[in-house]
Amino acid sequence: MYNSRHAAGKEIQMHDGRTGAESAVVSAFGRKKKNRHMAAAAALAVFFCACGRPLPEPPDRIQAGVAYYNQSDTFLSELNDCLKEQLYKLENKHFEVTVTTKDAAGLQRTQDDQVKELIDAGCNVLCVNLADRSDPSEIIDLAREHQVPIIFFNREPVAEDLMQWEGLFYVGADAQQSGVMQGELAAKAIQADSQIDRNKDGKIQYVVLEGEPGHQDAIIRTESAVDTLKKNGIELEKLSCGIANWNRAQAQNRMMQIISEHQNRIELVLANNDDMALGAIDAYQKLNYTETALPVFFGIDGTDAGLEAVAESKLAATVYNDKEGQAAAMAKLAAALVLQKGLEETGLVDGKYFYLPYEKVTRDNISSFTGA
Ligand code: BGC
Ligand code: CA
Repeated sequence: MYNSRHAAGKEIQMHDGRTGAESAVVSAFGRKKKNRHMAAAAALAVFFCACGRPLPEPPDRIQAGVAYYNQSDTFLSELNDCLKEQLYKLENKHFEVTVTTKDAAGLQRTQDDQVKELIDAGCNVLCVNLADRSDPSEIIDLAREHQVPIIFFNREPVAEDLMQWEGLFYVGADAQQSGVMQGELAAKAIQADSQIDRNKDGKIQYVVLEGEPGHQDAIIRTESAVDTLKKNGIELEKLSCGIANWNRAQAQNRMMQIISEHQNRIELVLANNDDMALGAIDAYQKLNYTETALPVFFGIDGTDAGLEAVAESKLAATVYNDKEGQAAAMAKLAAALVLQKGLEETGLVDGKYFYLPYEKVTRDNISSFTGA
């Protein structure tokens, strides 16, 4: 019910996500800036004409292999539904689509083996959500050896790794943008409601729940949310920071410990994703805290459960991580790579990157995300 919103053809914001220098509004499915157009065309030509070999006949099927770091991750399991839907939509009577998914349960060694299996099974495009984003070398070597392009997603390899071969791409979103939006949402809520500063000391006592160390979305989201609050004139006092690896149950446990140390002093919880914000809420529920003694909670993702919590005012706000847009971009790119046409229309930045914009979600605009 939550994916009615990001239909094909929607305007999306593209940028390089690193320097903020390259920024242009393009359509995912049509309009494009000329320089990007040329960069993508050049990348396509280099990729398809590697070693001066003649172009092979484009195949009559897309056989996609999708490898997840951990399929029980809430955001990724919802993204997986969108991706399958988008890939199967490419099928028509002349053209077959198959999708095989693999779950590495957090281990890069397992994922390396799974990618080999996918290639051996005949996959002609791979979508890889790295278990360890700093260690893609084995997968890249395998893919290059068999000339199977890879669309990395959600867990971003470093630029040097993505430069290793022309057949490597990345689809995701800009971590800093999500942190800034979370900070702006929290600042606005604090300015609008003097009750949030419960002890009336003019400062907001806060706690952060962080995703996996080393993930591009963990540290950057935290830093930019906190910086944005400060830039908006909010005085902060950090009480604690807990790592809960994106996971609701781990967040509940960490939060129970933090509450036992700080009792009802906590006024604000910033979580790097919705699942951890929900885990923090679970901790308070388990301890039977009354509503007036609760802090305000902010998440990121807009998962089904996250949106529901915003609708019920349990979560003050979240930031929408556009899984429909990411899935549509990946499917479009996968088709262009396999069919060897249309890559210039995908709007890739630097011939390699595709970043979908985040959006703020509050009770005021929740209906446009839930379709309710
Ligand atoms: C999402 C998290 C998710 C993580 C997995 C992040 O972008 O916000 O919910 O667990 O990606 O890599
Ligand atoms: Ca206070």
